[in-house]
Amino acid sequence: MRRVIKPGRSVKGVLRVPGDKSISHRALLCGSLADGPVRIENLSPAHDVRNTALSLQALGVVIRPTLLLPALSPNPLGKGVGVRSGEARGEVFVHNAEGFSPPARVLDAGNSGTTMRLLAGLLAGQNFAATITGDASLRKRPMQRVIDPLTQMGAKIESDNGYAPLKIIGQKLRGIRYELPIASSQVKSALLLAGLHAKGVTTVSEPSPTRDHSERMLRYLGISLEISNGAVSVQGGARPKAKALMVPGDFSSAAFFLVVGALVPDAQITITDVGINPTRTGLLDVLRAMGAQIAIENEREIAHEPWGDLTVKSSELRAVRVGGALIPRMIDELPVLAICATQAHGTTVIQDAHELRVKETDRIRAVTENLKRMGAQLEERADGWVIAGPQKLHGAVLDSFGDHRIAMAFAIAGLIAQGETIIEGAEWVEISYPEFFEDLESLVRS
Ligand code: S3P
Repeated sequence: MRRVIKPGRSVKGVLRVPGDKSISHRALLCGSLADGPVRIENLSPAHDVRNTALSLQALGVVIRPTLLLPALSPNPLGKGVGVRSGEARGEVFVHNAEGFSPPARVLDAGNSGTTMRLLAGLLAGQNFAATITGDASLRKRPMQRVIDPLTQMGAKIESDNGYAPLKIIGQKLRGIRYELPIASSQVKSALLLAGLHAKGVTTVSEPSPTRDHSERMLRYLGISLEISNGAVSVQGGARPKAKALMVPGDFSSAAFFLVVGALVPDAQITITDVGINPTRTGLLDVLRAMGAQIAIENEREIAHEPWGDLTVKSSELRAVRVGGALIPRMIDELPVLAICATQAHGTTVIQDAHELRVKETDRIRAVTENLKRMGAQLEERADGWVIAGPQKLHGAVLDSFGDHRIAMAFAIAGLIAQGETIIEGAEWVEISYPEFFEDLESLVRS
């Protein structure tokens, strides 16, 4: 599907973005491990989250409402089949009274790395075998990073040379101490889920802090975790308690509006009820360091996650240097930061972001390609970009490269460009934010 984006003269309004995708996956997975029924509020309508829900249903977990049930159309993305239910937005019940059962079919994680890696952790300690596959993009993403430590715990995993499909043959697991070679919350979370089913203690240490939603949720559900010096330990055998979960708005979705609010000359946007967990808000710190006017109000904590309302106003931006421990705190926001950098005064350097090459697409390549089509000059490096600004962008025909965040980031670029921009493959926004274009249009005056 093509989407036409016209330049925006002013961007104003108040908005609530959908529930956080990362937290929604974890809510479904932890809900299915709990000792009773779990109500989840504001579950993300993302296609990725639906794949986690469908996989859990195939493993015998009861998830209501049943509008989750329609089978996924492999391609194109099905319309209107998200998990949002009519009146109570995103209210879902999860109950696994009987325990997991062997699935009658191959589990399909679709485009979702989080579904595949976290499910691998959950399945490693069951007493049956299950196979997880994914779409063409996911089958090219590295899975050895989760296979290695799970195998050390005693799991049996067959793969296509470190790539999906993964056949997980459940085993009795033992706790291990594991140092993550790459900062990855998905791998950390997979090991914690496996650790719940292991004998003894599982300890995971990370080279720099990654999103800690799994730790916060497990603690909220009564699991005692020990966290010190960049390592988290879980004792095997405990079961999460059934408690209601509430999902904050997705900071990674709010990020697009923070950037457009800072860049468009006549802008003021408030995004309410957003998750502001510091392991996710690197972009907030970077935008502020660039000179963006962003206020946080109504800060509160719900189910161990920090929430707030964010207001951004038009701002004059200056260049920054971004690397090191900041990268995992804003890994999914780097494409839209690169667009922001084209409008900032001075030379922005984004480094240490090699991981972007193994996301839904090679995001370093995709951003370079699209920015060049818009007439921008930038240097692509193995681990990021060097971008001097400010530069004028012109409308062009761009590609989402089958990646939701590339589609959304370049919708923002289109708004600040001269002339019309066309985004091909715009339907991929459904992976994390099905109503992105409608929400964006509700704020823009051209
Ligand atoms: C996620 C972690 C990040 C992120 C992804 C979601 C998660 O991946 O890029 O969009 O929910 O744990 P890595 O943990 O592989 O860096």
